[in-house]
Amino acid sequence: MSPFQLTRTLPDDAAGAALRADVLHGLTHTPKELPPKWFYDARGSELFEEITRLPEYYPTRAEREILVERSAEIAAVTGARTLVELGSGSSEKTRHLLDALTGLRSYVPVDVSESALTGAATALLDEHPDLDIRAMTADFTRALELPVTPGPRLVAFLGGTIGNLLPGERQAFLRAVREMLSPGDALLLGTDLVKEEDVLVAAYDDAAGVTAEFNRNVLAVIDRELGADFDPDTFAHVALWNREKEWIEMRLRARQTLKVTIRDLDLVVPFEAGEEIRTEVSAKFRQEGVRNELAHAGMKLSEWWTDSAGRFALSLSTAV
Ligand code: SAH
Ligand code: TRP
Repeated sequence: MSPFQLTRTLPDDAAGAALRADVLHGLTHTPKELPPKWFYDARGSELFEEITRLPEYYPTRAEREILVERSAEIAAVTGARTLVELGSGSSEKTRHLLDALTGLRSYVPVDVSESALTGAATALLDEHPDLDIRAMTADFTRALELPVTPGPRLVAFLGGTIGNLLPGERQAFLRAVREMLSPGDALLLGTDLVKEEDVLVAAYDDAAGVTAEFNRNVLAVIDRELGADFDPDTFAHVALWNREKEWIEMRLRARQTLKVTIRDLDLVVPFEAGEEIRTEVSAKFRQEGVRNELAHAGMKLSEWWTDSAGRFALSLSTAV
């Protein structure tokens, strides 16, 4: 069995500097905001895995259903010899693709979370001893230097994670993905779909409070990495549906007036009671919107598959 390769494109220091810059900008901005990639330290990655198993969190099950149903077709249509996966996390659902892609030589999981990548690659080695696994820690919103591997290449972006980018970021991201595709390559994109508000809100505000803990974990990351004194319990988790933008907004709301000291930034951040930090959006899509955004970035949607309940979609696109 060959061990997997891990390439770190996020030097320790760059991650630290980026976190400092994001926190300084976000917490001195009105309204206060924090970018979502900082959710995913080892604890955050664990909590996200717990979210995927919650009864209210349907996207993982819906996307898995499509993958079980369509992986053979995806394999036949793409003939992929390399699978690049952005934001791969535990690579749990990816197993269905890996099993179906019989000509696959290389798997390139890309994630900001090194602990998630290491866990995923270690587990996969057992089942796919001959697969060339080239794990990469990288920020997928930045230019990626992918390893040289055999084509055709299938780039997968699952979990509805594209919805966590804001519209402008999404467009820039899709253009960058377009640049990764050579003729014969394809993009497999998972998008959660617009549906009833109560179903959406419950998926981001579960009864067991796991999503609340996940959201508040970003404060624990800032405490640990920047010597801040956030008490996560003084913030309430808020998830609401923005009907106009068609996205779920996640926020952390100060339960009382308080001050937080961020030692490494020499910064004191005051909060009024009820004041919110915007932490993440999770946009929901319609087929026309996905098709248009892809077209705008120079790609053509060729397949659109949903689960039987029509909650989630997987689409396949190629460069034009
Ligand atoms: N694909 C998995 C995980 C989705 S959660 C699934 O469908 O279940 C989102 C994943 O993207 C997490 O593993 C997180 O660590 C990763 N991630 C978030 N922002 C990122 C960024 N900017 N660059 C790279 N990975 C990122
Ligand atoms: N990609 C996931 C989603 O948008 C990420 C996610 C799930 C998430 N639950 C969350 C992000 C709660 C922040 C808070 O569905």
